[in-house]
Amino acid sequence: MSTPSCKFAAGVAILMFVVFFSFVVVTAHENSYRMEDARFGRSILQAAEVAQEPKAEPAVSSGERAVPKPGEPQVPTFKRPFVEGEPHMLFVLSYQRSGSSFFGSLFDHYPGGFYVYEPLDGLYNAMYGTPEEWNVPSDIMNTLDGELRQIPPWEVRAISKNLEDILQCRVSELPTETLVHVFWHMFVHFEHSLVPFIDCLKRPYVWPRAQCFPYIFHECPRRFLTNMDKQEKCFNVLWDPEANSPRKNIQEPEAFKNYSTCMQIVREKAKPCEQMLGEFCKKADFRATKTVRATMDVVETLLERNPNLRVIHLIRDPRAVMVSRSEFYDTGRSMYAQGDIAKEAKVFCQSIVEDIRKRKELEKKFPGALMEIVYDGFVQDPVTYTQKIYEFLEVPFKQEVKDWVVLKTMVEMNSSYIATKWLGKLQYNEVMGINGPCGGLFTGVNYPWP
Ligand SMILES: *[C@@H]1O[C@H](CO)[C@@H](O)[C@H](O)[C@H]1NC(C)=O
Ligand SMILES: *[C@@H]1O[C@H](CO)[C@@H](O)[C@H](O)[C@H]1NC(C)=O
Repeated sequence: MSTPSCKFAAGVAILMFVVFFSFVVVTAHENSYRMEDARFGRSILQAAEVAQEPKAEPAVSSGERAVPKPGEPQVPTFKRPFVEGEPHMLFVLSYQRSGSSFFGSLFDHYPGGFYVYEPLDGLYNAMYGTPEEWNVPSDIMNTLDGELRQIPPWEVRAISKNLEDILQCRVSELPTETLVHVFWHMFVHFEHSLVPFIDCLKRPYVWPRAQCFPYIFHECPRRFLTNMDKQEKCFNVLWDPEANSPRKNIQEPEAFKNYSTCMQIVREKAKPCEQMLGEFCKKADFRATKTVRATMDVVETLLERNPNLRVIHLIRDPRAVMVSRSEFYDTGRSMYAQGDIAKEAKVFCQSIVEDIRKRKELEKKFPGALMEIVYDGFVQDPVTYTQKIYEFLEVPFKQEVKDWVVLKTMVEMNSSYIATKWLGKLQYNEVMGINGPCGGLFTGVNYPWP
């Protein structure tokens, strides 16, 4: 069990290191290589399959979104009214290796805010009995055969409720698996506002889930989607889809009874931390969360029920994502692709294209509630983007946030370099392999793709 964790943690550590510290020095050699490849990349995209893709619908018929200049942040022109005196809330929906950790930090650094990083792994643990960290986004969104996975309705309901519970501070509703999840510790550097809560979880009397998980380790799947019989069995025992919550007081089978009893003890021990989390949340006038483990399916209910919620759909150039995925670690990649870059691009892009389609429907139903951000554009002008995003959220763009963005993007890393780094790293046939399945993304998102 420790091997995948270590590997994952090491992968994350390397990723962090590379993202934040190693892009400052750009050699002349790399520069000229990139310039050549930029021309190369552009001609590929114009000539290739993309041309044959049906043109995506114009974003909006009238009013909602004026035709923006390509590459600028597209703030909806319609202002969805907020309920006064109640906190403003944000949900960032994105994909692995798409810059969402860094992007999410824009909200973690809002003074007096409340920000939860990647909460859904814990929910999947609670629903399906999987080990922590082993609900890989590409397995949630795609089947093992590389087809789009139809997210079952109970899962959509569970995710919507879980995200709403987080944003509305209903901490007693969170599964224990969420409350004591290992991600709090692994990603503490992305959760500034929650450090005292995470310190609380570290106290010796608060047990992590690892104390209880051995009871069901052999009963449940080792990784989400890899053993459907076990997954179904564990779901049936652990989750109550009618109540849309974990089952309480499980009596049998015995292994599950032991797990459930053990998790109740964990819950008791974590009570003071749970209260602390709730208090942090309640006093925040701006609350946000981001995930790469949800699809656009979960957004409709959230928007219906929460007038003060805004949604950002964060998308990154799939060619940059593929380079990033292939360079760092393998646990985040799909089971289906087995390292094949074109297959990886297929599963990656088909879920985004589907999300874009759904989002455009939602934009009609909830004008002014959703915003699309292209990460590659954001890194080229992060301060302007951040300002526009805060305008969209109708949350003050505080100096602390601005200072942080400037420090991270202009001093510590050369963000304009990151945006085009992929160009020198992919072979011609690899670029073609990505451009094919990702054609719908390139046409569906209004951005001057290189
Ligand atoms: C459940 O817990 C009891 C008491 O600690 C133990 O004797 C039993 O072996 C456990 N059963 C399983 C299946 O883990
Ligand atoms: C960042 O990289 C770009 C493109 O390579 C270069 O033009 C610019 O001077 C670099 N900026 C810094 C601060 O290093």
